[in-house]
Amino acid sequence: MERKTIDVVVLGAGAAGMMCAATAGTMGRSVVLIDHASKLAEKIRISGGGRCNFTNLNVRPECYLSQNPHFVKSALAQYTQHDFIKLVESYGLTYHEKTLGQLFCDQGSGAIIDMLKAEVDRGGVTWRMGTAIGAVRQVEGGFEVDAGDETWCCASLVVATGGLSIPQIGATGIGYDLARQFGLAIVPTSAALVPLTFQPQDLWGELAGVALESAEVRAGKVRFREDVLLTHKGVSGPAILQVSSYWQPGEPVHLDLMPDESPAEFLAGASRDALLSTVLAERLPRRFAQALAAQFGDNKPLKQYLPRQIAEIADRLSDWQVVPSGTLGYKKAEVTRGGVDTKGINSKTLMARDVPGLFFIGEVVDVTGWLGGYNFQWAWSSGYVAGLNV
Ligand code: FDA
Repeated sequence: MERKTIDVVVLGAGAAGMMCAATAGTMGRSVVLIDHASKLAEKIRISGGGRCNFTNLNVRPECYLSQNPHFVKSALAQYTQHDFIKLVESYGLTYHEKTLGQLFCDQGSGAIIDMLKAEVDRGGVTWRMGTAIGAVRQVEGGFEVDAGDETWCCASLVVATGGLSIPQIGATGIGYDLARQFGLAIVPTSAALVPLTFQPQDLWGELAGVALESAEVRAGKVRFREDVLLTHKGVSGPAILQVSSYWQPGEPVHLDLMPDESPAEFLAGASRDALLSTVLAERLPRRFAQALAAQFGDNKPLKQYLPRQIAEIADRLSDWQVVPSGTLGYKKAEVTRGGVDTKGINSKTLMARDVPGLFFIGEVVDVTGWLGGYNFQWAWSSGYVAGLNV
């Protein structure tokens, strides 16, 4: 092993790691950025359908899940969505707001990767891509990291190795192992921003391909109003991905299929001679309306239902409950819920409270953003803050 001495070792050249390395490098620190992947930042590349939803205009602490909901406040305030937008603009990149404050890069996600790479290079950072990380040791005055055929001796070590989602492109649990090695706790992890699966008898399979526009979906106390897509295995679409982060196994998911009006009033005003499926199809996709009507017995003209049955149909339209059997797991999840417990990390610097010089940033930390650019903003903000403090 060849021994090398450097100020900062950053493990993981994803969104948070590159931001941190660039910031530390431009502050004059000597930095090496190590990643086992041979291709740079694959998660950024596949993000936002290839257009990278790089931030959100409405970023605020309430849009993040963590055992400590206050933890994100300092980093998000130190480096805001507007700071990142300025960086994007300074590279001549353009962007557009798709919906709900979500900003996408017109030049595609490759342009965001090129921008971050240029920032890292501007900081004079040493790259080590395609390099396996071996043992990490705490030594007097810092750390030693075995990586490839080199041992790096550093005062500051930053863990930016992300979560467990999409192992196909390089996600591993090394960040959690390192946290445990240094005595930090882990909040149990699970797949989040992920499609939900249902029992086969739950009507969904036969409806694959149906889209419910702007349904309101609720799990526990949170509700999201966006599209829902029915698939062969269950349900997906932005509203479902959002509630998946809050959903607990065994709990029902509630769908309000007519969030803009009272279903009871709608049914009362409908033609009494029309079939229930025909009436429901005025507000819902036809295939869905037919399957739903079949759930209330034979599909009959409205006048043949008893008042209590009409009331039951109205209730179901505003609060249709289904208990998911599970999720599609890390293979299909955008992020990992849980992670390194924030109790062990100083929120103002991202340094471990009991291990001077050790930092945790990005998705490896117990911080999970909503769908819509919030997770990248956490990566940029936490990366920047650690970069200032290494
Ligand atoms: P990230 O995963 O980016 O980087 C971790 C790095 O560590 C990787 O380069 C990996 O190779 C490396 N690594 C892991 N284990 C290692 C080991 N053992 N040795 C060496 N290196 C190792 N978010 C958002 O805000 N807007 C969006 O549009 C999307 N879209 C999206 C689509 C899809 C399909 C997914 C899967 C995810 C998203 N996300 C998203 C989420 C976003 O990609 C994610 O939150 C950030 O990439 C997290 O940044 P990190 O730097 O923390 O981890």
